[in-house]
Amino acid sequence: MKPSLLLALVLLRPLALESIPMKLPTPRLDGQVSIETAVRARRSLREYTEAPITLADLSQVLWAAQGVTAAGGFRTAPSAGALYPLEVYVFAGNVGDLPAGIYKYHPCGHTLSRVAVGDARRALRQVALDQFSTNDAAAVILLAAVYERTTAKYGSRGIRYVHLEAGHAAQNVYLQAVALRLGTVAIGAFDDEGVKRVAQLSAHEQPLYLLPLGRK
Ligand SMILES: Cc1cc2nc3c(=O)[nH]c(=O)nc-3n(C[C@H](O)[C@H](O)[C@H](O)COP(=O)(O)O)c2cc1C
Repeated sequence: MKPSLLLALVLLRPLALESIPMKLPTPRLDGQVSIETAVRARRSLREYTEAPITLADLSQVLWAAQGVTAAGGFRTAPSAGALYPLEVYVFAGNVGDLPAGIYKYHPCGHTLSRVAVGDARRALRQVALDQFSTNDAAAVILLAAVYERTTAKYGSRGIRYVHLEAGHAAQNVYLQAVALRLGTVAIGAFDDEGVKRVAQLSAHEQPLYLLPLGRK
């Protein structure tokens, strides 16, 4: 094999591997914690132990946020016109069986694809007004929006719909976290451009919410 071809293969191989979506553990569809208990116990938690969360935990929380639950692509959270403007990212730093990095969640197929290698939680904290929870959590979920998916149908009122929808997804994360005995906090105070840069969002994705996830 020509050295130039070998070099090209070596350089391209990691890129090809990164673009392969990774199947997440199948989410549980039943549990021991009642909805009443989860609603009553829900509290924002900003400090976590250093224990890792499992990949099954992360899978479950991502499913609760935006998982597909019915034929036709209908999801766990309601969506105006079923247009699904939310994108879900994960900053993983201390998740069992998942290398540190930034990942994108794909509801159809329940998979993760890697966006960037390495622990980006410290960089996230710097653009999140130095809120420790974004660095200390085992993982941080980012809800981002592609407004055009909803405003194309509903005009400027679609912006309101997208924000309401982010609230639905975030509450699902809170309640699922309770059921898994994890903690989270909805974070809206951050530098938008900074989060976009750190998460490597595309120009049409706007960050709305950060949801750190860690053990109590
Ligand atoms: C839109 C929104 C933005 C918030 N932003 C932050 C934040 O940036 N940092 C934080 O620590 N908590 C944030 N919170 C969480 C609130 O501080 C928390 O919900 C409130 O103190 C009530 O406590 P509880 O969630 O335990 O009931 C936010 C909550 C909402 C709904």
